[in-house]
Amino acid sequence: MSFLKFVVSALAVTSAVLPATAGLISKRDVVKPKVMVVSMFAPEAEAWLNPWNDLYANNISVPGLNTLFPEVHCNTEQTVCQVTTGEGKSNAASSMTALTLSPKFDLSETFFIISGIAGINPYAASLASVSIAKFAVDVDLVHTIDLRELPKSYQSAGWEIDTDPYGNGTSNNEVVYPKSFNYQTNIYQLNNTLIEAALEIVKDVVLQDSEKAAEYRKKYEQPAAQRAPFILQCDTATSDNYWAGNYMGDFASNITNVLTNYTGHYCTSQQEDSASLTAIKRAADHELTNFNRVLLMRSGSDFDRGTESISALDNLLKDNGHTLGLAAANLYHAGRPLVDHIVNNWSYWN
Ligand SMILES: *[C@@H]1O[C@H](CO)[C@@H](O)[C@H](O)[C@H]1NC(C)=O
Ligand SMILES: *[C@@H]1O[C@H](CO)[C@@H](O)[C@H](O)[C@H]1NC(C)=O
Ligand SMILES: *[C@@H]1O[C@H](CO)[C@@H](O)[C@H](O)[C@H]1NC(C)=O
Ligand SMILES: *[C@@H]1O[C@H](CO)[C@@H](O)[C@H](O)[C@H]1NC(C)=O
Ligand SMILES: *[C@@H]1O[C@H](CO)[C@@H](O)[C@H](O)[C@H]1NC(C)=O
Ligand SMILES: *[C@@H]1O[C@H](CO)[C@@H](O)[C@H](O)[C@H]1NC(C)=O
Repeated sequence: MSFLKFVVSALAVTSAVLPATAGLISKRDVVKPKVMVVSMFAPEAEAWLNPWNDLYANNISVPGLNTLFPEVHCNTEQTVCQVTTGEGKSNAASSMTALTLSPKFDLSETFFIISGIAGINPYAASLASVSIAKFAVDVDLVHTIDLRELPKSYQSAGWEIDTDPYGNGTSNNEVVYPKSFNYQTNIYQLNNTLIEAALEIVKDVVLQDSEKAAEYRKKYEQPAAQRAPFILQCDTATSDNYWAGNYMGDFASNITNVLTNYTGHYCTSQQEDSASLTAIKRAADHELTNFNRVLLMRSGSDFDRGTESISALDNLLKDNGHTLGLAAANLYHAGRPLVDHIVNNWSYWN
């Protein structure tokens, strides 16, 4: 710690124990957490809140949060908080905008850990494995026409906005790099130094497994799908459209490959991350958040596609292993050591 930093933090400690005076009150009430865990729906939130009951010590209501989850939960020391956005891109963007602009919080130095379940690509990982993403790619930003109204040569029902399936000498609408990114939110890249540091801390965490997951993953022939839950780095695709199947999975892979210049690897599908990142990025542009302090953790609650003997429809609707609880629990098992490390070694992380 530099001398100046030492003086500043000593002053901060001193002012925190001074009796409240008129000028200090509002500043003292602003919560400045070191970590904000972001969940999207109740099972993900409960995976943190149930084992970590102290997060209920401070319930802070924030205008603009989802009516189902109107409060941010913070521990006694207000070093760690948890928010639940609601599902889908609209809820995620709105809730995260409300949170990042709230005068009740100072999130300028906060580490965000987005912690959610996802569909998982069996070529990359297994049920309840936990991934840390470098890229979040929005695979909704496409043109779509039902395949029944497209030429037989088309390999998918969609193609990236700002690309021209006629214009490249191809007649099969292969994914190509867009001419422009008018929507701006197609792809977000997260800080690699942070990702590496996080992986170093969580790499030895033993994730939970279950007999049900072990039994179910035998149905998949891919080696990665057959492994006990593990931790890995791979990338995530956002879509409001809750899709399933080989072709949609390949479509997400192809878009991820092309938009990342073949440096990214699609492994999880979810419905919020690009939206949450859009809100955090806009706040970061005004130094209300720090975009170098965002981690995306997603754990596989089900495979994103079936097998030779499990149709895409059955995989989506019934025969999918039902490992949501296990996946959510593993988000906590992998995430908690990271949160503790950040909070307890703050001078290093900050
Ligand atoms: C915070 O909310 C939880 C869940 O609604 C509740 O159980 C808890 O008592 C609340 N904490 C406080 C300090 O009111
Ligand atoms: C045409 O396709 C090739 C191969 O996929 C790609 O490298 C190139 O960028 C595309 N050109 C245009 C104008 O889309
Ligand atoms: C990642 O974060 C570190 C630490 O804040 C910073 O030094 C580095 O410049 C960041 N990397 C990029 C590519 O922004
Ligand atoms: C994905 O890309 C591969 C290789 O270019 C191609 O063979 C396949 O048809 C594509 N799939 C979809 C759904 O776009
Ligand atoms: C991919 O390449 C394009 C064109 O060179 C570049 O503008 C873009 O930043 C690259 N994207 C990534 C994620 O590296
Ligand atoms: C703080 O960092 C040190 C050195 O990396 C590590 O050994 C220790 O476990 C960390 N503390 C916590 C609470 O994680």
